[in-house]
Amino acid sequence: MSKLSVNHLLGIKYLQPEDIHLIFSTADNFKEVINRPIKKVPSLRDITIANLFFENSTRTRLSFELAEKRLSADVVNFSASSSSVSKGETLVDTVNNILAMKVDMVVMRHPNPGAGVFLSKKVNARIVNAGDGAHEHPTQALLDAYSIREKLGDVKGKKVAIVGDILHSRVALSNIFCLQKLGAEVMVCGPTTLIPKYINALGVKVEHNLRKALEWCDVANMLRIQLERQEIKYFPSLREYTLQFGLSMPLLNSLNKEITIMHPGPINRGVEITSEIADSEHAIILNQVENGVAIRMAVLYLLAANIKH
Ligand code: CP
Repeated sequence: MSKLSVNHLLGIKYLQPEDIHLIFSTADNFKEVINRPIKKVPSLRDITIANLFFENSTRTRLSFELAEKRLSADVVNFSASSSSVSKGETLVDTVNNILAMKVDMVVMRHPNPGAGVFLSKKVNARIVNAGDGAHEHPTQALLDAYSIREKLGDVKGKKVAIVGDILHSRVALSNIFCLQKLGAEVMVCGPTTLIPKYINALGVKVEHNLRKALEWCDVANMLRIQLERQEIKYFPSLREYTLQFGLSMPLLNSLNKEITIMHPGPINRGVEITSEIADSEHAIILNQVENGVAIRMAVLYLLAANIKH
């Protein structure tokens, strides 16, 4: 397989396993490029990309921008807070005005689930979903699975526990789809109130005891508690959450086994994981961030392959 089965990256749900393997093999080549003294290739020299961020971001936004620049694309950046959206302009009008300036691809983060799918039906450009509400964050799941493959040799057959705020997490849903498509077993672990009722339909194991989840898994992906998406109280206090679901070095050491620790960031240090864990050799958190650039270069390169000028 040399091209993707999709024209947009809207969610892992829409990808075939072969698409994911193609993205990974392409990312392998780009990872070699970004470790050279000159980290740039001319692959997207004739492509213009707009990064539209309607929600805050550090990692995803900078990672996409670096990926685009390392592929030699022309790049424009848009923040909702400093745009005419605040004057009442619609999403479709905003994007069509940007596309009139001869933009080929749009990378968009938006608070509404399905915003990327909606946009892909309304405008003539390749769309990459950089996170849509609590729905999907496909490039995060790709870089997570790629980092597991790098650390453990393969994703197939591995046991991955996703721990924490599953209910509000686009990272969890995209990770579940991606890991299952690659042949991993997935467990979710967290308080009953933060595990969605539909979760059993996704074919994952459910565990409410962190120690049991850790005893089961090869990899623990510790998610952030998303207080900004919680309109009601899902647990009595952060302290109580940390006591039951926070990962500390004494707990990890007591298991007498090696577990790879992941976190998509941003970390609430001392809540879902302690600093001692986050900064330890067990964690691959900064490897995930590094791999994000190569993965996003691969996604943009493959989606741009059949753009005609
Ligand atoms: N992991 C992630 O999406 O981080 P940002 O919100 O900083 O982009």
